Amino acid sequence: MKVNFTETVLRDANQSLIATRMPFSDFEGILETLDNAGYYSLECWGGATFDSCLRYLNEDPWQRLRKIKAKVKKTKLQMLLRGQNLLGYKHYPDDVVRRFVELSVKNGIDIFRIFDALNDFRNIEVAVDEVLKQGAHAQGCICYTTSPIHNLEKYAQLGKELEALGVHSICVKDMAGILGPQEAYDLIKALKESVSVPVFLHTHSTTGLGPITYVKAIEAGCDGIDTAISAFSGGTSQPATETLNYTLKQMGYDTGLKDDMLKQINDYFKPIKSKYISNGQLDAFVMGTETDALTYQIPGGMLSNLIAQLKAQNAINKLEEVLAEVPNVRKDLGYPPLVTPMSQMVGVQAAANVLAGQRYKNVSKEIKAYLRGEYGRAPGPVNQELVEKVLNGEKPITGRFADTLEPAFEKTKKELGSLAKSDEDVLSYIAFPQLAERFFKSREAGFERVVAYSISVKQEEAK
Ligand code: CO
Repeated sequence: MKVNFTETVLRDANQSLIATRMPFSDFEGILETLDNAGYYSLECWGGATFDSCLRYLNEDPWQRLRKIKAKVKKTKLQMLLRGQNLLGYKHYPDDVVRRFVELSVKNGIDIFRIFDALNDFRNIEVAVDEVLKQGAHAQGCICYTTSPIHNLEKYAQLGKELEALGVHSICVKDMAGILGPQEAYDLIKALKESVSVPVFLHTHSTTGLGPITYVKAIEAGCDGIDTAISAFSGGTSQPATETLNYTLKQMGYDTGLKDDMLKQINDYFKPIKSKYISNGQLDAFVMGTETDALTYQIPGGMLSNLIAQLKAQNAINKLEEVLAEVPNVRKDLGYPPLVTPMSQMVGVQAAANVLAGQRYKNVSKEIKAYLRGEYGRAPGPVNQELVEKVLNGEKPITGRFADTLEPAFEKTKKELGSLAKSDEDVLSYIAFPQLAERFFKSREAGFERVVAYSISVKQEEAK
């Protein structure tokens, strides 16, 4: 039996371990080898890629994609799309979602892994529909979480809803790495019995369960898994590609992967990893096994964000308290899965509750919007006292929030005028207005800062 491997070093591993700070130049030299290694797909694009390219790396994310596509000719390129949120934390009108999907296909994306943080599939149906229209692969996600309201029947039902949307495959997205081996076996089995499309599994090594969970999932019929080349595996990243390849081959599965190429890829990334350790971007904390996540259900990205946030406020000593507050906030909000943007929203609110010494003294505008129903339906009942306190008599929305939004693409394009050089630029701007504008201006100025940046990196490397 064939097990498909998706390599995450360019996206999720990069995001989970080093906050997506890897510039294109760091992986350019290994793209052809990645293409020839026998992967099912390479995950290479997502919201954090856009953010980091524009904010820190002075790279055009669309150009990065085209440059990857130019070297990766056989292996499918995959992106993570946050449904109606696209790449950010808010909902966009349907015309923007459709244009984004269309241009992503044109620029090189083959597989769209599409999720909604609340598993409210009204928020992914337009993206899925456009992916199908564009002839690309639509993979619908179920965000995995545990709570008193999440059980096998509920997950099987979610699987059937996704299949009814016409997706080519389904992915169980365990962003927190909390899915245990037996739970994975039962869940994948329940889904395989309920749907006819392939079922993929995405997890993290955070709690150490990852590799065991994958093996049990595959025994239950799982069609594909996400792994990271070992230099960028483990901890808050994915389980190692080589480890799973070795294990599954020994068990008689066909992985399609070439061992010698995996070694070349890993040898390539070893010194790059060392560089991030010595410049402090790769923190030892995210590389270890953190079993507290089994209690706190903290996804890799969220844990590293919380640490950064508390360090910046000189309050890292409050980490334990904040981690303990996370499940309380989650219960108040009706048990949303902790995935972007919910993970950040819950994390920030938990930190605010602890740092203010009083719960919900300060409520972020995102949490207010959530309580108004702007993100979709909460999976479970929401704390009504909190709703009343925050909404102050205002009625929550019950329909699909995107239906209340005016088309925005053509209007934004006109407003931007010559600052945007392409429709892709317009979409970068819609997704990240300030970052994109700064990027466009710096591009006009001939990227003096890029030059300055690469000189400083070269000096750094020469040391
Ligand atoms: Co992930």
